[in-house]
Amino acid sequence: MSDFPLDAAEEITISPRRSYMIITVKGLTKKFGDFIAVDNISFEVQAGEILAFLGPNGAGKTTTIKMLTTVLEPTGGTIELNGFNPLTHQDEARHSFGIVFQDASVDDELTAYENMLMHAVLYGVPRETRQERIRQLLEFVELWDRRKDFVKNFSGGMKRRLEIAKGLLHHPKILFLDEPTQGLDPQTRNHIWEYIRQMNREEKMSVFFTTHYIEEAEKSADRVVIIDHGRIIAVGTPTELKAQAGEDNLEQAFIKLTGNVIRDETVDPNQNLMRRFARR
Ligand SMILES: Nc1ncnc2c1ncn2[C@@H]1O[C@H](COP(=O)(O)OP(=O)(O)OP(=O)(O)O)[C@@H](O)[C@H]1O
Ligand SMILES: [Mg+2]
Repeated sequence: MSDFPLDAAEEITISPRRSYMIITVKGLTKKFGDFIAVDNISFEVQAGEILAFLGPNGAGKTTTIKMLTTVLEPTGGTIELNGFNPLTHQDEARHSFGIVFQDASVDDELTAYENMLMHAVLYGVPRETRQERIRQLLEFVELWDRRKDFVKNFSGGMKRRLEIAKGLLHHPKILFLDEPTQGLDPQTRNHIWEYIRQMNREEKMSVFFTTHYIEEAEKSADRVVIIDHGRIIAVGTPTELKAQAGEDNLEQAFIKLTGNVIRDETVDPNQNLMRRFARR
């Protein structure tokens, strides 16, 4: 009889595939006055997973990302990031993720290198490794040759690439991307997705992203969460969602699940009307 204990053998075969939840969200809610922007949502993201968070304009995606990244305080519910509660362990939670916001956060009046350096200092990237890490990342997003140029002279695509390099500086376990490819040409979008997938593969970095380019989710996401009017209406792999909607592409499935109505970003149509009157 083998003297190798059975549970040890099981451990060896099981552990490489064993994964844990890098993000756990339960009952997350955000109210702005009486308006409920995010309404009691719960979901999990596995370590190493690429998750697409899709929804029409005003669905609550950015509000959710802001709560996950400690920018906004939730009205209710709980969040765990890399095992930390961002409300009680803000620093540990913040060091667990990088973020590329929907609105640009790079400083136009600094060079690409200076932007990276400022972020490295803010995030406590050790002085000895700072320069090397910045070089690696600027090379990764193909901006090393432009490192001394002011960001105000960069194209939209170059700025997004710099944002991504910045988000990756401190080796985050999770990368949040809010519409990382908005308004970019297909070549640049493709490049950006190559960087993201490469980081996901090589550093086992989990990715949580939003996009209105549904084909990006179809191509790159392991799983998709669809949110509408602040509520999660569907969760699954792209294949599962297509099957659920009886469609053969994810964009059609998305439209079927969320409806055809164009969304106004404002809370209430009357409010929009009042604003127009107020401007007169
Ligand atoms: N600070 C705020 N005060 C009041 N309402 C807000 C605030 N921020 C967001 N909202 C409202 O909350 C809802 C969700 O907005 P959010 O920005 O999360 O949508 P989104 O899904 O990111 O949309 P988009 O695809 O257009 O970026 C919208 O109705 C928006 O008007
Ligand atoms: Mg948004």
